[in-house]
Amino acid sequence: MKTIRASIIGFGAVGQGVAEVLLQKDENLKNIGLDIKVVAVADSKGAAIDPNGVDLSKVLIKKRTEGTVGSEKLTGLEVITNIDHELVIETTPTDIDTGGVGLPNMLAAFEHGRDVVTSNKGPLALKYRELAEIAKENGSNFKFEATVGGAMPIINLIRDVLAGNDIISIEGILNGTCNYILTRMMEEQASYEQMLAESQELGIAETDPTYDVEGIDAACKLVILANSIFDMDATYKNVDVTGITKITPESLMLAQDDGFVVKLIGEVKKDLIRVGPRLVPVGHPLAVGGTLNVASVQTDLAGTVTITGRGAGSIETASAIISDVISIYR
Ligand SMILES: NC(=O)c1ccc[n+]([C@@H]2O[C@H](COP(=O)([O-])OP(=O)(O)OC[C@H]3O[C@@H](n4cnc5c(N)ncnc54)[C@H](OP(=O)(O)O)[C@@H]3O)[C@@H](O)[C@H]2O)c1
Repeated sequence: MKTIRASIIGFGAVGQGVAEVLLQKDENLKNIGLDIKVVAVADSKGAAIDPNGVDLSKVLIKKRTEGTVGSEKLTGLEVITNIDHELVIETTPTDIDTGGVGLPNMLAAFEHGRDVVTSNKGPLALKYRELAEIAKENGSNFKFEATVGGAMPIINLIRDVLAGNDIISIEGILNGTCNYILTRMMEEQASYEQMLAESQELGIAETDPTYDVEGIDAACKLVILANSIFDMDATYKNVDVTGITKITPESLMLAQDDGFVVKLIGEVKKDLIRVGPRLVPVGHPLAVGGTLNVASVQTDLAGTVTITGRGAGSIETASAIISDVISIYR
């Protein structure tokens, strides 16, 4: 049995999802020879530390009842720097302008020779190459499946399952909020504003939906694909971006009359990264509805491979994180 000491830095929807999945899958993990022992959990207010393994059930209850994970006045960065462990699961908020706390967290993890598994797009959309190089120099693993498409396994699909193929292009829907709004505008013949309000009521869109509806979130995910799959050195400022805020119900109806749906499609291929509304034929593999994400990968050997799945959600995103963890240590 291999024991891996881990920290969870950021204990919101995704961090808690990871804790729940670790509890739920403890036996399955042990059956494949992995004992993932969480020795520290940190949120913005404090930390829970136990070198023998934090009781995740208790930490989940404490977070939900008291609003914090523990009384240790250590920041996430101090946990990463000072506590002995192999793996940092980094799930702090995305900040695409500065990289947020995730950037120093990941850098410190690599400088201490720790592996990083993350769902946090910001640091990768800004400084992918620097992070990948520092990870390599320190012999650390760096995995980030959860940053693109939530539970939809696009990065590992390409890197592992499609290994040996040249990747010609990737295109797809990488933002579930936009897809939900466009799907509902079409179904209800309603305005963008009405369906944005509905998606906010349902908790699908954030109070400030700018990143999603202006296409910036999808652009960041394309940048991560561009850098990690196509070996580019791009940031989201290199992406040609158009969002969905100007789309009218009339234009959607005209498209429908001609057998099309309108989708916010992201596309990356050599020297091109763009996201914007596009006409997609009804019944086309990219014409998925609701909050679903989808990606079509065009390859030289396998032809086109299309994958669809849930792009967000606590447990869904934890699924991508756990699969990254297993792929490192199995
Ligand atoms: N939710 C999804 O479905 C989803 C899907 C894919 C990717 N992601 C990405 O995954 C990350 C986490 O998402 P989320 O939905 O879990 O966000 P969230 O619910 O806002 O949780 C963020 C957590 O980070 C903590 N935090 C903030 N500053 C910190 C600091 N300086 N040190 C330690 N912890 C700090 C927060 O602490 P407090 O609890 O004290 O506020 C909170 O626990 C984000 O980068 C997001 O973009 C999310």
